[in-house]
Amino acid sequence: MDNNKGYFLGKNAVVTGAASGIGLALCEELLAQGAGKVVLADINDENLRTHEKRLERQYPGQVKGIRCDVTKEAEVRRMIGEAVALLDGRFDLLVNNAGLGLSGMFTPIASDKNLSEKLKLRVQTNDDWEKAFAINFYGALYGSRAAIKVMTPQGGGQVVNIISGIAWSPMAYQTMYAATKAALNMLTLTLRYEYWDENIKFNSATPGTTLTAIWGEVGPPEGAQTAQESARKILKGVAKNQRLILGDKGDEEGAPHCFDPSMEEGLDDYFINVARVRRGGKLTI
Ligand SMILES: NC(=O)c1ccc[n+]([C@@H]2O[C@H](COP(=O)([O-])OP(=O)(O)OC[C@H]3O[C@@H](n4cnc5c(N)ncnc54)[C@H](O)[C@@H]3O)[C@@H](O)[C@H]2O)c1
Repeated sequence: MDNNKGYFLGKNAVVTGAASGIGLALCEELLAQGAGKVVLADINDENLRTHEKRLERQYPGQVKGIRCDVTKEAEVRRMIGEAVALLDGRFDLLVNNAGLGLSGMFTPIASDKNLSEKLKLRVQTNDDWEKAFAINFYGALYGSRAAIKVMTPQGGGQVVNIISGIAWSPMAYQTMYAATKAALNMLTLTLRYEYWDENIKFNSATPGTTLTAIWGEVGPPEGAQTAQESARKILKGVAKNQRLILGDKGDEEGAPHCFDPSMEEGLDDYFINVARVRRGGKLTI
């Protein structure tokens, strides 16, 4: 049983990156908590159709999958338009969840010429950086903009942007992931205040370290929680309209420490150690 006091009862939602992992779990949890209709949006058509069919059997008439590449604003606008028509004209909640993990090297490292090979990480180009921002930052920006357009005339709504604890944890070889998610966090928090008086709620949410495909071959670190656990934590914060929803203990501790000047030395020690361990070949820490 959820503790969200019926917050999601009858609400209509769109979730991006919904064909896998946390996005899929968010859809399942929303439906389990009494949501009205849920639109799953994803670029992976095969997974999308599989889960659309499965969920539609369980919740007839409440589920729809729409293929959408969130890096293209026209596609996001079209997807939201189609979704709103399916949602009987009422669009209560958008979760901009689609995202990629994006590890890599900023430049070659002069003192260790074989590092890229050893870590199996590519040196990232400007093209890689543009693609990273396109998915992890602009995807959510386009979604937020399209949602505002629909939510304003209906008198309000809620937009949740999925960031990551990496937004305040400068982990070596994850420059792109950290930069895109930190940017998305500030976009979201700023929109929260710009649209507060329009009754459109914005929330920034970290899922916490979660067992999903995003970890690829490397695999998640020990203690990763399930996507269902992350989804429940996120929805708890959404129901409370928390400005920053923190998905696990690590994020709860990391967020307040990040910019605390009294912790500078400890933070340096910690993140220098992470960089060295990673340089040694162990990427998951
Ligand atoms: N898993 C974790 O430990 C963790 C931790 C912090 C933050 N996050 C964030 O959670 C979100 C979900 O990640 P996940 O772990 O469930 O990964 P995942 O790989 O299981 O799911 C990501 C989904 O996004 C979709 N996607 C990728 N590119 C897309 C595009 N251009 N348009 C539309 N959909 C696209 C993929 O097809 C996939 O279904 C991401 O934003 C990620 O950064 C995850």
